[in-house]
Amino acid sequence: MEIGTPDISVQSASVLLIGPDRTRRGALTHALRRLGVEVKQEVAEYPSYTRTAALAGDECDAVLIDLDADPQAALLFVETYCALNKPVTAMLYTQNGDPELLVKCMRAGARELIYLPVEDEALTEAIVRAAARRETQAPRRLGKMHVFHSAKGGAGASTVAVNFAVALAHETKAEVALVDWNGGFGDLAVLLNLSPRFSVLDAVRSPERLDWDFLSTLLAPHSSGVRLLAAHDQLSVTNGEHRAEGVEKLFLLLREKFAHVVVDAGRTFALPASVLKHAESVSVVTQVDVPSLRHAQRYATFLSEEIERRDSVQIIINRFDARNSGITATEAERALTFPAKWRIPNDYGNVTGAANAGLCLAGQSSPIAKMFRRMAETASGKAPKAVSKSWTLFGLKKG
Ligand SMILES: Nc1ncnc2c1ncn2[C@@H]1O[C@H](COP(=O)(O)OP(=O)(O)O)[C@@H](O)[C@H]1O
Ligand SMILES: [Mg+2]
Repeated sequence: MEIGTPDISVQSASVLLIGPDRTRRGALTHALRRLGVEVKQEVAEYPSYTRTAALAGDECDAVLIDLDADPQAALLFVETYCALNKPVTAMLYTQNGDPELLVKCMRAGARELIYLPVEDEALTEAIVRAAARRETQAPRRLGKMHVFHSAKGGAGASTVAVNFAVALAHETKAEVALVDWNGGFGDLAVLLNLSPRFSVLDAVRSPERLDWDFLSTLLAPHSSGVRLLAAHDQLSVTNGEHRAEGVEKLFLLLREKFAHVVVDAGRTFALPASVLKHAESVSVVTQVDVPSLRHAQRYATFLSEEIERRDSVQIIINRFDARNSGITATEAERALTFPAKWRIPNDYGNVTGAANAGLCLAGQSSPIAKMFRRMAETASGKAPKAVSKSWTLFGLKKG
């Protein structure tokens, strides 16, 4: 018997198995093992969104889902899973041949149906097709997330986030997502001279509704190529409305669609650690005065503990003025145990003028505009990393 692509063997394939019915699951596990297919994980319930996202990150060739125990939950899982991990084939197993349900299965993204009682030949063919399909698909690549926090109100996180995002859109000639995570106190729409009708809150409050078609309607396009998801403007909204499930889904969708996702995380509303830990860079923007540096150090420490990693956490010194800084380099360096990766010059005239006019500094030739371009080049991989690494506080070279 010759099945599918000759060089793909069913014996090197691996699957996930999902279904609350133990007997049906057992029958499939038995059949799969008999064929030499590795069952990487069995899940005895339809997973929540967070669990689905975790499962979608696991390597396998196919995911087999029980359709009959709860068809609605099964289809919801298939839809979410397929959106998160396209190269993996979703297969539903069923005792039911209801044509209407079968159409819904295909619409949800399932590519195979396995009828029970399972036949070895049909199962083998489906698994081989899944393995072959996965081989031809490009691996899933998610966009890079750059998050800016403000050590103290007024440190400059919004200014840095918006100008960095615009510079990145110019640099990469691609759309960049910009998220204003300052619920109630967002500035990015004003800084970009946009009047968005929708906000972060529209995106996160109904996770079950959130998909790319919906999310794309919430983003406000800026002429630079930045697409803004604005902060909501109701002050009464509590952090409870930002349920982790919705927030995780939002950022995964954004990272699927954009090579770069820039977040102004301000100080008020914390991003869940489950999102923040995937960030390429987690920056704390600060000015060079003792209270600010103290807050920056504490904030950076807190964030690194939350996400259980330090390598992505960095400090950005804003409004730096070597001549008028009352603090010495040694003092400032002693205050920080995280790399001070960028120094952004103080430029009241240009920054305030741009902010008031709803313009960005992108096209300018001022030192501050050049600095944002440099940051964008580094983030897009154009500038050698060493350039930014050699930057130290106040121009002193370490080591
Ligand atoms: N590099 C800079 N040079 C001059 N003024 C700046 C600079 N960065 C920010 N500002 C100004 O400082 C104020 C606070 O900046 P903002 O980005 O709103 O801070 P945050 O978002 O951290 O609260 C704004 O008026 C802004 O125009
Ligand atoms: Mg701000």
